[in-house]
Amino acid sequence: MKKVYLVMPEKIGRIAPEVYGHFSEHIGGVFYDGVYVGKDSDVPNIRGFRKDVIEKLRDIEPPVLRWPGGCYAEVYRWRDGIGENRPTRPSWWTRDDGRYESNEVGTHEFMDFCELIGAKPYFAMNVTSITPMDARDWMDYCLSPKGSTTLALEREKNGHPEPFDIPYWGVGNENWGGGGHMTPDYYALEYRKFSTIMYNTVPRGQHVDLIAGGANGGDIRWTDALVKGLENCGAPVHGMSFHYYCGNAGDPLNFTEDEWYQLLDKSEIMEDLIVRHYAGAQAKRMDGKLKLVIDEWGCWHPDGSGPSKGYNLFEQQSTMRDAMVSAITLNIFNNHCEKIKMANVAQLCNNLHALFLAGGEHCITTPTYHVFKMYKEHQGADAVRCVTENNSDRRSAISVSASEKNGYVTVTLANRSCTDDAEISLESLGASVEANAKAMLLAEDDMHAHNTFEDPERVTIKEIDVDVSKPITIPKAGIMSISIKLA
Ligand code: AHR
Repeated sequence: MKKVYLVMPEKIGRIAPEVYGHFSEHIGGVFYDGVYVGKDSDVPNIRGFRKDVIEKLRDIEPPVLRWPGGCYAEVYRWRDGIGENRPTRPSWWTRDDGRYESNEVGTHEFMDFCELIGAKPYFAMNVTSITPMDARDWMDYCLSPKGSTTLALEREKNGHPEPFDIPYWGVGNENWGGGGHMTPDYYALEYRKFSTIMYNTVPRGQHVDLIAGGANGGDIRWTDALVKGLENCGAPVHGMSFHYYCGNAGDPLNFTEDEWYQLLDKSEIMEDLIVRHYAGAQAKRMDGKLKLVIDEWGCWHPDGSGPSKGYNLFEQQSTMRDAMVSAITLNIFNNHCEKIKMANVAQLCNNLHALFLAGGEHCITTPTYHVFKMYKEHQGADAVRCVTENNSDRRSAISVSASEKNGYVTVTLANRSCTDDAEISLESLGASVEANAKAMLLAEDDMHAHNTFEDPERVTIKEIDVDVSKPITIPKAGIMSISIKLA
């Protein structure tokens, strides 16, 4: 039996809703074949976007969606994606998958999609292959008040007189790699240049957050050098990103027990990365204001296991193991929420760690989608400190986080063990709670379980009642979310 103490008076901080953010790049089948089927498609759609995806996304209340890359951002020409007669170009990824970019989805369509799903947009600006003046033009086009500039008039002509609301702008993507193979010192100079022009373009009375491009995984050297290079930067730095993927733990579908634990151990490195990057950033500047933006995270398995069988670059199936990685990672985010401004799971559809797999008339949700559904009450809630007794054996450890909002405590628990159920008892310290609670459970006998076009509901949430004054069983490899009313 493990005792999980909910230390109710100890609030870690507010969990920014954006921590439950998403990422959609122009890559493989994320848009084309994925969320976007075109207005004339037989597949039910709203202005070209799959109706199914829109409805299911609304259900999990996606707070923010990052676009258009990823690496693709660093070759994106925003003008290609507005107006009539859009050019077809090589994508960033054409060398890998032979596909070309039609630009059917551009600024207006993406903004429409965000509106349809209720998410705020997070644009990644190209800083490798355009000039700061081009960056200025895109921001001018998007943000300038109705009728105020020539580009605002062009936006109006293209159907959107009012400025778009785009609160987050990333300044580049992975500039240590695909984004120009820069050194951190060089990137810091680019950030200073681009951000000065970008910030200066934001119309009076509007606010945007500028996010600096951060490290690859545990590259603290990048963080240190970047933070140093941004000292006394005239323009603001509202967030600093880093990316972390876990993989190299066997086949996405046919993994062994050891590989189950290997992947979970890799996902837990996230905690260490958050602590170290945050400390690096805080040590040098930003008056305690700089927060982290983990704008790509998830599992990266070898491709070919998804329904397109390798046609869509990086498309992979997602099992209960990937759901467990999601649960553990989101618990880590909640438990370190005071350091995190935003996080974006990569990617939305037909790709790495996807929430949806789609093709033709088929569209299914993955186990990871269900985890986002089970965790959604954490968005905007106050994270509560949790302490778990008897939790040091890595194989059988429980991952847990809790938060309080609107008179309810949401506790999310994940049982790492793929062989044994876990018995837990919840102990609320400093506040009384009602015993009868509602819970959602995601658990399957087989840790390899996943959804397919043929069996789309194989893995799905079960709603159950629990008595939190008694021991609760979390099945092996199972994830539970409990909603407890404060007495
Ligand atoms: O998510 C796929 C790719 O992974 C992104 O384009 C890039 O930013 C990262 O390396």
